[in-house]
Amino acid sequence: MTINVALLGLGTVGQGVYETVISHQEELYKAIGEAVRIPVILIKDSCKNRKINGGVEVTTDFNEVLKHPVDVVIEAIGGCEPAYNYLRKSLESKLPVITANKELLAKKGKELKKIADDHQTQLAFEASVAGSIPILHMIKDYLKVNRIQRVEAILNGTSNFILTTMREKIQSFEQSLAEAQRLGYAEADPSNDVLGWDAFYKTMIISDLIYNEQPDWNDVVRKGIDQVTQEDILAAEESKEKVKLIAALSRSSNGQIEASVEPLRIKPDHPLYAIEGVNNAVRVKTDLAEDLVLSGPGAGALPTASAIIEDFVALFKNNKSIKNNDPVPLGGY
Ligand code: NDP
Ligand code: HSE
Repeated sequence: MTINVALLGLGTVGQGVYETVISHQEELYKAIGEAVRIPVILIKDSCKNRKINGGVEVTTDFNEVLKHPVDVVIEAIGGCEPAYNYLRKSLESKLPVITANKELLAKKGKELKKIADDHQTQLAFEASVAGSIPILHMIKDYLKVNRIQRVEAILNGTSNFILTTMREKIQSFEQSLAEAQRLGYAEADPSNDVLGWDAFYKTMIISDLIYNEQPDWNDVVRKGIDQVTQEDILAAEESKEKVKLIAALSRSSNGQIEASVEPLRIKPDHPLYAIEGVNNAVRVKTDLAEDLVLSGPGAGALPTASAIIEDFVALFKNNKSIKNNDPVPLGGY
């Protein structure tokens, strides 16, 4: 049997997913007992050269996508529209959806979740927060009894990469941003990264997951790294501190959710001090486990594809009807 995937977007993340589905057929088959194919890919610009094999329809028309007999939709387009419209139509067709789109989830996550529930299907979005790190699964599926008291995190790989290279290579903000863009870490509009919006959206997704609501966006401090100068970074270093873009989330004693995203100087004993380059890290303080810290690459093609493909396996693993040592029916590409 084969699971057919509709892939929306073939940029950094979409290409990573496409390549992972080919390179990890064996692991996928062992995990879910089915071969996995991508018969159709949605893109915007039909003139770009694509690195894909034959046998895949590449289209700019979403209506063509749903004409294929697909079992799941993976979205890696970004932004609110047309992504929202495509995901709504997919969920209304009872197709499970996996997305990496934090802006859409922060703005319309609840709406999409309701559409999924109303149509007895699922919305999975681990890749939308902290790239490769399974932080949403840890919060949603593991920490059932622990009371989460506070979350502190580095959630934007581009900002952390820029701050690190400005410090280590004494490189300008502009040079560092250009490098982050070349490596595929930055958003299509990098102001989302450097003004703190990307980390803000991710913080709102975590808030939805922990508290089932978000704070009033007007009450959230949101600052990016755009005003951080080389002098700020070097001054921090002289005091053995580092400047990091820190997202924080907690509920105050009067029940208010408090959230912030801002560049802060942190000391060597802080668990996020050693997180460098494109890496992200999330520190979850709980009453029982105390301090849990997860870290890993927060952006990039394969780390993001990792989160998407593990979501995919979580959706389909219950289909498994074969034994692990059965031969893998490779092919199809
Ligand atoms: P890219 O800009 O590299 O790729 C976007 C893809 O979507 C392109 O293939 C583009 O088509 C396609 N696309 C854009 N607009 C449309 C449209 N209107 N209709 C059809 N296709 C469209 O983005 P990324 O891969 O970097 O990011 C994709 C998503 O993943 C975003 O939500 C982002 O926030 C999220 N994300 C990104 C990470 C990263 O490391 N880059 C990490 C985690 C999440 P075309 O190729 O024709 O231009
Ligand atoms: N632009 C984002 C970042 C991609 O740099 O963290 C991962 O969400």
